[in-house]
Amino acid sequence: MAFTISVNGRARSVDVDGDTPLLWVLRDVLGMTGTKFGCGMALCGACTVHVDGAATRSCVTPIDSIAASKVTTIEAIGATAAGGRVQKAWLEREVVQCGYCQSGQIMSAAALLASNPHPTDADIDDAMSGNICRCGTYNRIRDAIKQAAQSSGQEGGR
Ligand code: FES
Ligand code: FES
Repeated sequence: MAFTISVNGRARSVDVDGDTPLLWVLRDVLGMTGTKFGCGMALCGACTVHVDGAATRSCVTPIDSIAASKVTTIEAIGATAAGGRVQKAWLEREVVQCGYCQSGQIMSAAALLASNPHPTDADIDDAMSGNICRCGTYNRIRDAIKQAAQSSGQEGGR
């Protein structure tokens, strides 16, 4: 079945079954491998993308549920205000270790800061609780999110 979805501001047409997970469409059909597969059961957060700005587990999001919603992936998140600050903070704090969970971590952090530019520790923990890192970079991730939030304040909350 043919579907046309908006991915990173581009209309993309794909021919797949309606229950095909968005993650499969992104990686296997569109060749966008920045979004990672981890568990396939909405448990690890590796596959997180934004659907209309909300952090969404693409492994359990069927393509026929997307309709006119706007999908944003790690490939384009740096072009958003919050995503750009998050990526800059990740680099400056040297968060990245494996490149496996971090795509999803960045997408969840960017969604958090886009909706809540100055989160508390509890807000951060709540927003990031579904993103698993097997090697325990959580403290560094939280530091980077705080740094990104501070830079938001310096730029007048954009
Ligand atoms: S692969 Fe989607 S949450 Fe783990
Ligand atoms: S840095 Fe990705 S699993 Fe730990």
